[in-house]
Amino acid sequence: MRKILIVGNWKMHLNASQASLLLHRLHERIKIHRDVEVVLAPSMLVLQPLSVQIDRRKFRLATQNAFHIDEGAYTGEVSFTMLRDLVHYAIIGHSERRHVFGEPLDLIRDKVAAAVRNEITPILCVGETKTEKVAGETEKVLHDQVVSGLSNMTAREVAKMVIAYEPVWAISSGSNYAHHEIATPEQVERVAKFIRHNIEELYGPKAAKMVRILYGGSSNAENAKAYLSTPGIDGLLPGGASLNYHEFSGMVRTAYRLQRERIEA
Ligand code: PGA
Repeated sequence: MRKILIVGNWKMHLNASQASLLLHRLHERIKIHRDVEVVLAPSMLVLQPLSVQIDRRKFRLATQNAFHIDEGAYTGEVSFTMLRDLVHYAIIGHSERRHVFGEPLDLIRDKVAAAVRNEITPILCVGETKTEKVAGETEKVLHDQVVSGLSNMTAREVAKMVIAYEPVWAISSGSNYAHHEIATPEQVERVAKFIRHNIEELYGPKAAKMVRILYGGSSNAENAKAYLSTPGIDGLLPGGASLNYHEFSGMVRTAYRLQRERIEA
């Protein structure tokens, strides 16, 4: 059975003391659970202090970004090599990296490879924009992002990876994460199937069965159950809702409950 993964993407929010306080609040509300992984992706600045504070039986850390070359004269950058003992996961190819910072497909491919080389598991984000959706290009865009992002990987490496489907049109852009066009569970299920099918064609049935696929885009405590019950979906990548400890711990509790039901079934 694939383990459920809940990843809080804190984006460019919270300084060190605010991040520490949020972690403290989450620690009070979240129990140790073997079958659900809870991952926090704070800003790079606070990864180090949080890594000291964190209860590793409950939480793992992810970086929101890093540079694809291990070391060198790259002013302002931090490499995956520097982060390898701090984080388990790296969010790569987030739509804000693709569209705000103009990260192209080949850079994202190189970042995935750099993460894997440094024993950090990539969470490769893919998703179409509203314009691409309206133009009927969703499958083409997703296919290109998945195929190019994974192109240097072996089947065994792909099997361990995480892919997050985040339709750009469903992502909130601030603390108000409720006002957005919402992806329906049916849409999400169709895309998860399509991604697994692509992976099966390229890397075989075992990789397709093992790779975990998350949904992200205005997910919260209220809709978590619907998305987590969607066939082919193994977890969530909330942004706005991950900054609110009631919301985030509610999502984690929903994941616990569903996983327990699955195990008992
Ligand atoms: P959102 O962000 O949950 O605030 O829509 C998700 C993301 O961008 O990862």
